[in-house]
Amino acid sequence: MTRAVIDYLDTGAGRPVVLLHGFPLTREMWNRQIPLLAQRCRVIAPDLRGFGASPAAPGAISMSTYAADVAALLDDLGIDEPVALAGFSMGGYAAFAFLRDFPARLGALALIDTKATADTPAARQGRGEMADRVVAGGAEVIADAMIGKLLSAQALEAQQAVKDEAYAMMQRQSPAAIAQALLAMAERPDSTPLLSGIEVPTLVIVGEKDEIATLEESRQMAAAIPGAAIVEIGGAGHLTPMEAPQQVNAALAEWVGLA
Ligand code: MLT
Repeated sequence: MTRAVIDYLDTGAGRPVVLLHGFPLTREMWNRQIPLLAQRCRVIAPDLRGFGASPAAPGAISMSTYAADVAALLDDLGIDEPVALAGFSMGGYAAFAFLRDFPARLGALALIDTKATADTPAARQGRGEMADRVVAGGAEVIADAMIGKLLSAQALEAQQAVKDEAYAMMQRQSPAAIAQALLAMAERPDSTPLLSGIEVPTLVIVGEKDEIATLEESRQMAAAIPGAAIVEIGGAGHLTPMEAPQQVNAALAEWVGLA
């Protein structure tokens, strides 16, 4: 058994629900979901390698590194029943790796503002350039580049506290971990071939104005997964768990059987 190296929150009791955060964020992005889910579930929210309170991995990583970390964490916690796994954006890419590498450990899947496709060659190149810029210039470089894409134009205007919280979360992350994650996302495989074989109850959530994982991509992904439900959040941008927590919570509650 591999010992887990990542930091995590473990709260509540009942069915295990694992929440995987996006890039370049931490488990704090789930602060608006955890109290509700923990009413009747055991919520496990890790910080992925190098983010938040988790130490960075030596050398290069992949989405499978994040998935193996989650599996090791579940081992440490004595959880061998299949878990409900929710991944937001990069956390969704890690959830696909978990599905690929540990299919028997997955009992339900929520894909939130994420996509199954791999990067295009141009996107891959952009990630490599951004990794170099972050290593040279610090986390602020990515925070500045991403804040406008995380939230809808409306939320950027009207939800200053959420904008500040998301920006500060990004700015606090280690440049080395950000660079590692960028390169790992660039190298992630296409998960589209997995979709038709997903046998667990699956929920797709997407913000209507998401520019990173678009409405159209999410609809196609949901349509390719047998029996998947999709919840489209009108007006919301990419970071729906923070921008539109009530709608996300309602969808997740139903997904885990709380509603
Ligand atoms: C995320 O929100 O996790 C990332 O923006 C995903 C990506 O860059 O592909």
